[in-house]
Amino acid sequence: MNTPLADTFGRVHDNLRISVTDRCNIRCFYCMPEEGVKFMRREEILSFEEIERFARIAAGLGVTKLRLTGGEPLLRKDLPILIRKLSAIPGIQDLALTTNGVLLGSQAQALFDAGLRRLNVHLDTLDRERFKHITRRDDLGLVLEGLETARRVGFESIKINAVAVKNLVEPDLVPMARFGREFGHEIRFIEFMPLDAQGLWDRTKVLLADQMIEILSREIAPLIEIPDRDPRAPATDYRFADGIGEIGFIASVSRPFCLNCNRLRLTSDGHLRYCLFAIDETDIKILLRNGAPDDAIASAIRGNVREKWLGHEINSSRFVPPPRPMYAIGG
Ligand code: 5AD
Ligand code: SF4
Repeated sequence: MNTPLADTFGRVHDNLRISVTDRCNIRCFYCMPEEGVKFMRREEILSFEEIERFARIAAGLGVTKLRLTGGEPLLRKDLPILIRKLSAIPGIQDLALTTNGVLLGSQAQALFDAGLRRLNVHLDTLDRERFKHITRRDDLGLVLEGLETARRVGFESIKINAVAVKNLVEPDLVPMARFGREFGHEIRFIEFMPLDAQGLWDRTKVLLADQMIEILSREIAPLIEIPDRDPRAPATDYRFADGIGEIGFIASVSRPFCLNCNRLRLTSDGHLRYCLFAIDETDIKILLRNGAPDDAIASAIRGNVREKWLGHEINSSRFVPPPRPMYAIGG
């Protein structure tokens, strides 16, 4: 490896999130519209070989951590094959996957056997009706089964992501936190971000980390911040004062963590983004498919990182939502 993948603010990028599909089998309202989603065509999506080549080049530039995302990544056929390829890349130390859990029951074992050890499962509620309301699908049972299978299979870490939407998820906070304490999952509440396909977001709809901490501390046990475990991770972790369980908050809106960002994102159609909220992206697919040599792709990655801005401006009147909604970026 030569010089690290640093942006003009000195942030070093060692973390790549790869979206393997924009398709999803549920329809969370804070991400997707209920109907009429226009998905990418098969030929627009990068092949496993293309993804592997890109990841290998990125690893050569100092990327050590990969996360597979979607849409819903388990909808991508033969995903364990990609997991094997990616875990074999020299320099990759950590490979994780974010899923909605619906297909986990049938796939957890194959994913584990391919070398995957860390999962993030997206789940907002343990109540069937509320799950239907949020995701417009009646699949809570499958997600809970999927989680159970994943625990049995022996993943090292299974965290749960829940999106914190105000005047909606308050009744779920305590049951979700109790569920995490019971089964040893860290629940991470992610403040609702302006990435939904329908443009529903506004600041008043965000349930803020401080409000959640207040509710959970009162209802369960005081929450104590765990100091700087990994200053570059987006979540701030807390433990319950009674010693049972941990909770994380990804406070993108109330406490932006852009100054510590080490992340790049590759969309399923092969575009590189230096920020969730980026407006500009670098077309990597065109290079991959037009015979560009590795060093041309490496230069394109460096170029994208050099363009990176200091941070998103969700909290400013200048904020412009990105042209892609969450499911087409990968979270
Ligand atoms: N705001 C915050 N988080 C979101 N996610 C999806 N849409 C949003 C949004 N609008 C989360 C989901 C998913 C992760 C990749 O991003 O929890 O698991
Ligand atoms: Fe699917 Fe994830 Fe979007 Fe929900 S948040 S619709 S699970 S891609």
